Amino acid sequence: MVSYTIGRSAPDVHAKWGCLQRISPGGDLSPTLLHVTPWGELRIRLHEGSHGCGERAGHGMWIAVGKGKGGAGCTTAVLELAYAAARRRRGRRPRRVGVIDLDPQGNATDVLEPESRSLGIKDVLNPHSPLSLRDVLVPASWERILVAPADRFLANREVDITARGITALRRARLSGEIDDLVDDVIIDLPRDVGKLAATGLLGAETLFIAAQATMWGAQGAEEMRYTAERISAKGNPDLRIAGFIISAYDDARDSKRVLNEMKENFGEKVILPPIPRRVRVREAIESYHTPCREYGGEDLVEVSDIYQSVYDRSQEARENLK
Ligand SMILES: Nc1ncnc2c1ncn2[C@@H]1O[C@H](COP(=O)(O)OP(=O)(O)OP(=O)(O)O)[C@@H](O)[C@H]1O
Ligand SMILES: [Mg+2]
Repeated sequence: MVSYTIGRSAPDVHAKWGCLQRISPGGDLSPTLLHVTPWGELRIRLHEGSHGCGERAGHGMWIAVGKGKGGAGCTTAVLELAYAAARRRRGRRPRRVGVIDLDPQGNATDVLEPESRSLGIKDVLNPHSPLSLRDVLVPASWERILVAPADRFLANREVDITARGITALRRARLSGEIDDLVDDVIIDLPRDVGKLAATGLLGAETLFIAAQATMWGAQGAEEMRYTAERISAKGNPDLRIAGFIISAYDDARDSKRVLNEMKENFGEKVILPPIPRRVRVREAIESYHTPCREYGGEDLVEVSDIYQSVYDRSQEARENLK
């Protein structure tokens, strides 16, 4: 089955419905499902091989952001990349983004203020739950973003996750289960390397590793690279480390030295320029749940611009791979 967006407003739906009927005068396209998505779009399912005139939502990027040490700017990167993807810009179609929060701290969930928290990612990973990823994605307060919420129970349930749970996101990506709901998926990985992190690393195709330019930050980044390479070799050959995002970078001599060491170790994968340390990033995101650009001020627009270019470059790289 394939899924088509056929429109948001009634006239739009009628015009496109008419177009579908013309393509298939006898009605042999056999629409089997007509429903309203969380985005308020009407969708129809047609048999594979049909050529509708609606837009087919493509399989976009499945990006994970991870770290080897806490406080690395991982959640901030997830949120700013999601905002960059979904942002309305001249000449570009804003993307619809699904944020999957695999961190039991639920920081990304808190910031995105989901419409409901009654279901979450724990219900997808639970071996006794019939729910799939699309059942737990709910609209966030940020435009064009859906979130699969995390809560503290995710930590308690980690021991119960079975092999089927660990591969849940991978299956969702490969089956195209949410391709009609979102263009890109961005996953916030937990710090601990356990079943939750493995679930995200098996699901993603693109990995960013967030780190601060400190000795322990660099060690954490190296550990995450090692973990990702092992997971990639064992069960996810699609996984590619797209880059190391250095966050909250200041001009201290030690930061410069560590950044240079990271460049020697990780080469061109170190994303330049690093994200500068700007105290109001915390105020915007943590306290006011607002993307940097919308919170305003030159300092935050500068930060937002860098995340935007990270997103744009990885989208271009993805297009070139196709
Ligand atoms: N560019 C920046 N300048 C200043 N502070 C920043 C910057 N980026 C992130 N921060 C702050 O650094 C702290 C850690 O960031 P964040 O929560 O994104 O990291 P994390 O790796 O997700 O942490 P955790 O291990 O708790 O999940 C937060 O208080 C955040 O607001
Ligand atoms: Mg975090």
